[in-house]
Order: sequence, then structure tokens, then C-alpha cells
Amino acid sequence: MESLEFNRIYNEDCIRGMKRIGDESIDLVITDPPFAINFRAKRGNYNRSLSRVIEGYNEIPGDEYYDFTLRWMEGVRRILKKSGSMYVFSGWNYLKDILAALDTLGFTTVNHIVWKYQFGVVTRRKFVTSHYHCLYVCKNDRLRKFFPFARFPQHERHAEGGSAHYRDKEDVWVIKREYWTGDKKTPTKLPAELIKKTLLYSSEEGDVVLDPFLGSGQVAVVSRMLNRRYVGFEIVREYYEFAAERLATGKYRIPSTKESV
Ligand SMILES: C[S@@+](CC[C@H](N)C(=O)[O-])C[C@H]1O[C@@H](n2cnc3c(N)ncnc32)[C@H](O)[C@@H]1O
Repeated sequence: MESLEFNRIYNEDCIRGMKRIGDESIDLVITDPPFAINFRAKRGNYNRSLSRVIEGYNEIPGDEYYDFTLRWMEGVRRILKKSGSMYVFSGWNYLKDILAALDTLGFTTVNHIVWKYQFGVVTRRKFVTSHYHCLYVCKNDRLRKFFPFARFPQHERHAEGGSAHYRDKEDVWVIKREYWTGDKKTPTKLPAELIKKTLLYSSEEGDVVLDPFLGSGQVAVVSRMLNRRYVGFEIVREYYEFAAERLATGKYRIPSTKESV
């Protein structure tokens, strides 16, 4: 089987693709797997201008979600270095399957982070979902990398008082969703700020960062911006092409968080 190159992305099923990556060769995984909630890319809630949204998002049926999760996480476990770690994003619907699979495979959970964002959808009969879960896990808690002052020096004060790095390391992250600025877009992009934060705390320049479920390619794009090596998979051709175009041309740039919804 031909092995994969880093600093490339692949239009491939990640479970198959990861078999071509050598044991213990990945430093960090940042990923947002498909949702299992019959997500449709052009459903109105997710975007204001639907015509530019790329269709075809590959969904996993709910009753297959646990087995699917177990299979891709098995792949990650084999190729992750002993010093490596993984950040898995998940909505609450199938969080139970993600937690069960992590446990079955022997990952150590380091933190359970809540990403608080604004959804902007008014509800009448229930509360508005405005958070996402992020499980920060590792293979070996003694060996995993973590750079506590990667974003704020030890003695820097926060504008509202107290230590800046302490606030930044609290496990509720308030980060706005981003608008796309190009003429095409995908429906489920993670904000660059979120990815930057995980990259800075858990990797160094030159490290290899994997996203098995690339979508718009955001993890690869931000990894490259921060001088990390990247590799990843996307099963839907249109999404893969969109991500590859972003990496090749710098088109569909990452908006600043000030342009957020
Ligand atoms: C939630 S989205 C990822 C969004 C991404 N984090 C971003 O910022 O744009 C999940 C992606 O996984 C893709 N996908 C689903 N099953 C896959 C598989 N077996 N292998 C690779 N990609 C897959 C979907 O098509 C979808 O684009």
C-alpha cells in the first residue's frame, strides 16, 4: 500500500486513508466528525445565503454512528504519537457515542471543553443550542505536549483583571462563528480562532496535524498558516476540491473574528 505524503490532502474515506499513514507519526488531531442528525448542507438555519453553499455533505446514520466512530478512532489511535493528542468536536446529540468510543479505545480524557457561540436562530418551544463540545484527549498523559504560556505570558494581566493566561485556559471558550468572504462556502466551518487556540497549546512548528474530516479544509489551512505540517481527508469531491483550492491559491480566505455573525 502506497504511503501518504504530508502537506497534502486526499479525496478519500479517512478510515481507508489512515491505513496508509505509518504508526505513531501524527502529533495532533483536530477534527469535527459528521453529525448523524440528518444534516443537510442547504438547510436554512446554517447559512443566510444558501445558493453559494456546496451541497453533498456526507452524513452517517444514527444507528451506525458508534461503530463508525470506533473505526475512525481506532485508526487515529494507531497513527498518533505517544506524545500526541486529539481534539474532537461534537454536538450533544451523539456525544454519548464519542465518549463511549474514546473510553473503549483507552484514550485519556484531559479536558471536556465547551465552545460557546451564537447560533442566531430564535426558538419558541425550547432553549437555543449555543454550545458545542470539544473533547481534548491523549494517548499518554505524562508524554502529551502542552504549552501553558503559548498565547499569554505568565505575568500578563487581563484587561478586566486577573491573569490573562488563566482566563484563556478556562474550559469554556467564547468564540464567534465566522462569515465566509469568498463566493463559495461550506456549511459547518470551525472558526479559525478555535483551531489556532488548540494548535498553539498542543503543537509546535513542524508538527504534523491531521484532520480526518476536512470539510472546508479549515484545520489544514490554519495549520499551514502557523507553520505546522498537515494531512487530511474529505470524502465528498466538491468539498475536497474546495479545500484543495483554498490551500493552493489562498482563495476563500479566513475572515477575522470581527466579521463574525
Ligand atoms: C462537520 S464537517 C467538518 C467541517 C470542518 N471542520 C470545517 O471546518 O470545515 C464533517 C466532514 O466530514 C466529511 N466526511 C464524512 N464521512 C467521511 C469519511 N468517512 N471520510 C472523510 N470525510 C468524511 C463530510 O463530508 C463533512 O465535510
